[in-house]
Amino acid sequence: MIIPHPTQYARIPGHFTFDASTAVRADGPAAGAARLLRTLLAPATGLPLRLSPAGNVVLVVDDMLGGLGEEGYGLTVGPDAVLLRAARPAGLLRGVQTLRQLLPPEALAAQPVAGVPWRIPGVQITDVPRHPWRGAMLDVARHFLPVSFLRRFTDLLAFHKLNVLHLHLTDDQGWRMPVAAFPRLTEVGGRRGGPVPHEGAYTAAELRGLVAYAAERGVTVVPEIEMPGHTRAALAAYPELGNVPGRQLDVWTEWGVCDTVLGVHDEVLDFCRTVLGEVLDVFPSRYVHIGGDECPVTEWETGTAARERAARLGLESPKALHGWFLGQVGDFLLAQGRLPVCWAEDSGAPPAGFTVMPWRDTDHGLAAARRGHDVVMTPYRSTYLDYPQATGPDEPPGQAGGVLDLRAVHAADAVPPGWEPEAAARVLGTQGQLWTEYVTTTAQAEYLAFPRLAALADRAWNPASRWSADFRPALHAHQSRLDALRVHHRRDPGGTPATASPASPR
Ligand code: ACM
Repeated sequence: MIIPHPTQYARIPGHFTFDASTAVRADGPAAGAARLLRTLLAPATGLPLRLSPAGNVVLVVDDMLGGLGEEGYGLTVGPDAVLLRAARPAGLLRGVQTLRQLLPPEALAAQPVAGVPWRIPGVQITDVPRHPWRGAMLDVARHFLPVSFLRRFTDLLAFHKLNVLHLHLTDDQGWRMPVAAFPRLTEVGGRRGGPVPHEGAYTAAELRGLVAYAAERGVTVVPEIEMPGHTRAALAAYPELGNVPGRQLDVWTEWGVCDTVLGVHDEVLDFCRTVLGEVLDVFPSRYVHIGGDECPVTEWETGTAARERAARLGLESPKALHGWFLGQVGDFLLAQGRLPVCWAEDSGAPPAGFTVMPWRDTDHGLAAARRGHDVVMTPYRSTYLDYPQATGPDEPPGQAGGVLDLRAVHAADAVPPGWEPEAAARVLGTQGQLWTEYVTTTAQAEYLAFPRLAALADRAWNPASRWSADFRPALHAHQSRLDALRVHHRRDPGGTPATASPASPR
């Protein structure tokens, strides 16, 4: 069975076999999906999969199929032909991934595999996702992950019909996004010392290449530049952005919440706008994340400049500078035609126009939705993949405080029970968070991500999918697919005893 579980699936008689004579027919807007189909199936099958106007694998974009929305598709597989149809090109990209899963797992290998009949069962599928935002956040700040891995990770997201790769590019412990106007951000901010020195930064060309690679797979890369907290790496590079003139700081070598934050003088806002200007140039995503979480206000409360700024603005306290700051930067993004996103960790009101990611309690998402914000659900209890997925001596070190097993990920609906329809309508979707304080290798990142992201993808695409009836039975075959893709994953997720979910915020 397919993961995510299709919304309508029927087996029909017969099989279709891909062989040397199989050809692909795709016009105009279907050309991208045809290219992806050939790119993905050629390595293992060695089949030419020629493009031909008389092809028997037919890919069609048809405006009349509007009911399928942006990403839905219809797939009919009969003995003589495969017909994949969608209203929009992105729908065809999702259907291509379904075709890959219908094939034997050997089709997913990176090398030619001989002697396998490339046969798929006759099916009639109509498949439409429930939520438009189905993603994964990858923290490349705490530990840098090479762009080759980001591409591989993107492939794995697309395989599960996830459509957002949220890149957490900057934090206290590292700045990975090159900014031409401020080269020290990566030169200084991209390196940390301490007992385990670590460094890394992308080039703009790598990031542009990633954006294009992801787009070919129907995945949007959403960049995150953290502010006004979680900015110690930037402050190490440019101390004048801070609250204490003349103070020299190192890139932070601890984990947790750092109490050094950006100042609130005009030069800092200019800096943020300049940095984001370059970010917008590299990332065409409509959504741009500016962090906003865990920003201690002690420096603003004790600093004369910040206190004066708060008073001049008529704010009741320096604490209120946080919302003011995000509002200033959010307005800049809105003026550039983009949509700002921030984390939310309480029921406080983010500035107007922000899409909100509640990472503590789901109720914070409800409060935001009721105020008219769009919401992407990211509660740590069900979406933080840095928590271990099991207890036991074989489990690698992870975030302390609890265990998040596969079943608990699958159990969470993007729309929590009990939300009124108006609030529920504000939920764009959900995503898994892979923070990397304890993730030092790409193998570990994959191990934490899969198969838990498969569970998240399943429910985000099709909330009607049930653990026992749908997902659990499909998992065995799916793990053969992950094996064929050589994903480092947990082999026996269903066999673990029930465990408590993470009990307290990190
Ligand atoms: C977060 O976990 N601080 C978003």
